[in-house]
Amino acid sequence: MSLIGEDGKREDGRALDELRPIKIEVGVLHNADGSAYVEWGKNKVLAAVYGPKEMYNKYLQDPTGAVVQVNYNMAAFSVDDRVRPGPSRRSIEISKIIGEALERVIMREDFPRASIDVFIEVLEASAGTRCAGLTAASVAVADAGIPMRDLVASCAAGKADGHIILDLGKGEDNLGQADLPVGYVPGTGEITLLQMDGHMTREEFDSALKLAIGACEEIHDIQKRALKHRYAIHKGGEGQ
Ligand code: CDP
Repeated sequence: MSLIGEDGKREDGRALDELRPIKIEVGVLHNADGSAYVEWGKNKVLAAVYGPKEMYNKYLQDPTGAVVQVNYNMAAFSVDDRVRPGPSRRSIEISKIIGEALERVIMREDFPRASIDVFIEVLEASAGTRCAGLTAASVAVADAGIPMRDLVASCAAGKADGHIILDLGKGEDNLGQADLPVGYVPGTGEITLLQMDGHMTREEFDSALKLAIGACEEIHDIQKRALKHRYAIHKGGEGQ
């Protein structure tokens, strides 16, 4: 099966360097300190943040700063085949890399021995949920009022049918040649998440990384707009 048509369009009609539509809503959960909901193509992802609060388990405390504990979970109904509830190798890996990506931007040093708990619930999944999860979590941390150096935005690039493409869809993720999820902090130029599945040459890797970073800058603008929208409404007294 061909993933890229003769007209250069992809399975969902996108150009090679085109993102799926992204919508971000801030402060959707009243019982969390911060929250965000992201719709990204067919992905639907919710992030909730609690803390900073005293780390319950004393052995996990870090006297030099807060520990960011992430729990990424796919709902049983998030894909066609029911997902088995509870942690899996995949969810543990994704929680770990998202936690590390967030720790680089959160001013952890302001909260020694504290814990910042981040819950990411994937309600519907269609490739790229770790990027959508990190993007949502970053906004939820900001919504919780936790000091950050900048927001981290995330997007994947990769390769399908020999072409470098942005933001892989489901078919491209399953049948493509490479997937390169990236987490990028525009304010500092840091890459805080970088994984790669599949094969690319060095030149292909460089252009995929450049494409993903450009998209992260675009997503960073969407994140900022969502936060401004949330707080502008509240200032005007129209908030929920
Ligand atoms: O979601 P992401 O691309 O970050 O991670 P992945 O492990 O590359 O998974 C790609 C996609 O496979 C997910 O987004 C889901 O759509 C799907 N998937 C699934 O159908 N069942 C699972 N147990 C895990 C993933």
